[in-house]
Amino acid sequence: MQQRSIILGSGSYLPERIVTNAELSKRIDTSDEWIKTRTGIEQRHVAADGEVTSDLALAAAERALESASVDAKEVDLVVLATATPDHTFPATATTVQHRLGMSNGAAFDIQAVCSGFVYGLAVADNFIKAGQAKTVVLIGAETFSRILDWEDRGTCVLFGDGAGAVVIRASEADESEGPADTGHNRGRGILSTHLHSDGSTNDLLYVDGGPSSTQTVGHLRMTGREVFRHAVINLADIVEETLDANGLAPEDIDWLVPHQANKRILDGTARKLGLPEEKMVVTVDRHANTSAASIPLALDEAVRDGRIQRGDLVLMEAMGGGLTWGAGLVRW
Ligand code: UT7
Repeated sequence: MQQRSIILGSGSYLPERIVTNAELSKRIDTSDEWIKTRTGIEQRHVAADGEVTSDLALAAAERALESASVDAKEVDLVVLATATPDHTFPATATTVQHRLGMSNGAAFDIQAVCSGFVYGLAVADNFIKAGQAKTVVLIGAETFSRILDWEDRGTCVLFGDGAGAVVIRASEADESEGPADTGHNRGRGILSTHLHSDGSTNDLLYVDGGPSSTQTVGHLRMTGREVFRHAVINLADIVEETLDANGLAPEDIDWLVPHQANKRILDGTARKLGLPEEKMVVTVDRHANTSAASIPLALDEAVRDGRIQRGDLVLMEAMGGGLTWGAGLVRW
């Protein structure tokens, strides 16, 4: 029987400390006005000294398991999307696995920077469809504050720390589909995922350190304007590809949950889709860009406050370093 991947619950975690634009403007040559107008960001959360990616990931995973009413012992795969692991190795996912009290199954990290969560969605969905996992905890967790050059005003104002997670379970396709589920009214679950990358654009967004090249951690470097240009094109393409693959029109989408990099990029994508602003979940104003964590953070907020309801069609899309980009369409 064909398996379908159902998202059973979500959770998220933000570090306690909030850094406002005003605070940043005391440290570097910037202003609240510039940051707000160019990005929509008003504040970001920053991890406490000693608080590491696995701490954030664990908190989000525990909340997701609780909301899904799933015990950690039932989980057979932990996938953690992060570009800021606790250590070069082992995978931060194995630390989370251990701290969840699991001694079975498998755990690994994936690295697609800001696209990490949609990459993870594809990985989880394909493991489930292949029959290799039944219950997956997928986490996006980042501590970008640790890889920022706090002297570089072009990048340090843009990012924040945080984590979000979902619990995904295999369900036999016919169980999850109601009698009237045909065409774009199909049953619950991950309907499709779409991934792309283009390594020829590596140098637009990268970290200038690493174990094999410099033996240092390094700092994030970005040619912002070029990344912006690629984001507008690639995100419009990926949305179109996803809608086409499912025989859907933009008006069929109930919620757009985009990667939160810049409010201007979000508005551009919604405009291209002809989607009213109220149908887009926006957290960039309060969270800034949390890379792989931004989609599950936004998703969890909209699920908990009741915007996303069972049966809603939710489109997630992201672009990040690589460049990588992708989308996932889910019937909630
Ligand atoms: O998540 C991964 C994907 N990442 C993204 O999608 C980010 C995409 N890029 C962006 O969001 C935008 O390009 C930025 C927000 C990074 C920059 O906005 P922009 O409108 O492209 O500005 P810019 O880089 O062209 O800079 C314009 C001016 C420059 O000054 P001059 O050369 O015109 O005098 C910058 O030096 O703004 C200056 N500037 C700042 N001024 C005050 C750059 N950063 C700041 C700052 N405060 N923080």
